[in-house]
Amino acid sequence: MIVSICNKTTMGLEGRRYLKKVSIKAQCGRHNQHQQQKESNRVGVVPVISATAATRTTHGAKLSKRSPRPENVDGDFYVDHTCIDCNVCRMMTPTVYSRLGQQSIVYNQPSSDEERLSALQALLSCPTASIHTREPPTDIKMAHDSFPLAIDPNTIEGVYHCGYHSEASFGATSYFIVHPGGNILVDSPRYSVQLAKRMEAMGGVRYMFLTHRDDVADHKKWQEHFKCERILHEHEVTWSTAEVEMKLQGEGPWSLAPDIELIFSPGHTEACVSLLYKTKGALFTGDHLMGNGKGLMMDHVHNWYSVPLQIESIRALLPYDFTWVLPGHGYMHHFNTVEEKNVALRNLIEKESM
Ligand code: SF4
Ligand SMILES: [Fe+2]
Repeated sequence: MIVSICNKTTMGLEGRRYLKKVSIKAQCGRHNQHQQQKESNRVGVVPVISATAATRTTHGAKLSKRSPRPENVDGDFYVDHTCIDCNVCRMMTPTVYSRLGQQSIVYNQPSSDEERLSALQALLSCPTASIHTREPPTDIKMAHDSFPLAIDPNTIEGVYHCGYHSEASFGATSYFIVHPGGNILVDSPRYSVQLAKRMEAMGGVRYMFLTHRDDVADHKKWQEHFKCERILHEHEVTWSTAEVEMKLQGEGPWSLAPDIELIFSPGHTEACVSLLYKTKGALFTGDHLMGNGKGLMMDHVHNWYSVPLQIESIRALLPYDFTWVLPGHGYMHHFNTVEEKNVALRNLIEKESM
C-alpha cells in the first residue's frame, strides 16, 4: 500500500476556508433548522412542529413547514416545505418526484410495488426528512433492508449507492464498494443503524475514503462503528477531520489496492482526490466532475478554489480508462466505451475553456 500517512494536522487556513463555505451554504438555505431532527421522526410520522418550524401565509395564518406543499398531487406521498432542493429524490425516483419552485413535489403517486419501493427509498434518503406518507408505511422495513442499492450489477457488480443522504453535505451521494482487499466507503452517508447492519452483513468497512472536505458528514460515527481507516488529503483536513487515520501527501497517485488508485484532482477545493476502481471502470469524483442527466458537467457555482485548475484536473483524467462517473453531487453517468468518455471530457474541457 502506497498511502502516505502524516499526523500533522492542517488547521488554520483550511479550517477558515471550510467555515467560510458553511457560512455561504447557510446563506443559500442549505443548512436549515432541521439539522437536529431525530431519526425516529423520519418515517411516516409528521414530526412535532416547533415554533421556529412555522412560517406565515400571505393571509397571516400560520403554516407549518412540515405541512404538505399544496402542489403535491393528491395521495399518500407528499413533500413538505422544508425541502432544500438537493435533487436526491428526483434522481432516485424521477417518475414520482419533480421540481417546482425550487423545491420538490410528488407529481405522480407510485402506481406499482416497484415504484412504491423506490419512492420509499427516496423518502429514507432525503437529507431533511421532507418526504412523508399520510399512512404509516407498513413496508418501510423492506425499504430499509434494500440498502445499499446496487448501481448496475451488470457493469459494476459490488458497487452500491448508500442512500441515507446527509444534510451536513447537502445531500451528497456516498458509495459502498465490496472489495476483496477490504470494503470501501466513499464519502459519508448519514449515520443509520439500519445501514450499518446491512454493511456489516456485507463484510463491514475497512477504508472510508473521503474525496474532499465537504462530503464528510457523519465520518466520525462510521469510523467508531466499523473502526475503519479514514483517508483524506492533508490539505483537505479541517477541525472536524483532524483525527483521520491516513492523510495523503503530495500529488499522488496513491494506491489502496492493485486495482484501486487515488487520483489528485484539485480545483473544486485545494486538494480533492478521485478514486478509480480500475477493474470496474468506475471513477468516484466527489464534486470534481459530475453527470447532469445527459452528459458531464462541472459546477462553477460551488467551486471553492480554482475553476482553471479544476478544468486542468478534468483534462488529466483523459488517459484513464473508466466508463462510470460516480459523483458526490449530480447524476451518475455511464458511457458505453472509454472513447465515448474521452469525447465527453474533451467537449467539456473545450466548453469550459472558452
Ligand atoms: S430529497 Fe428531500 S431535500 Fe432533497 S430534493 Fe427531495 S424532498 Fe427536497
Ligand atoms: Fe464539495
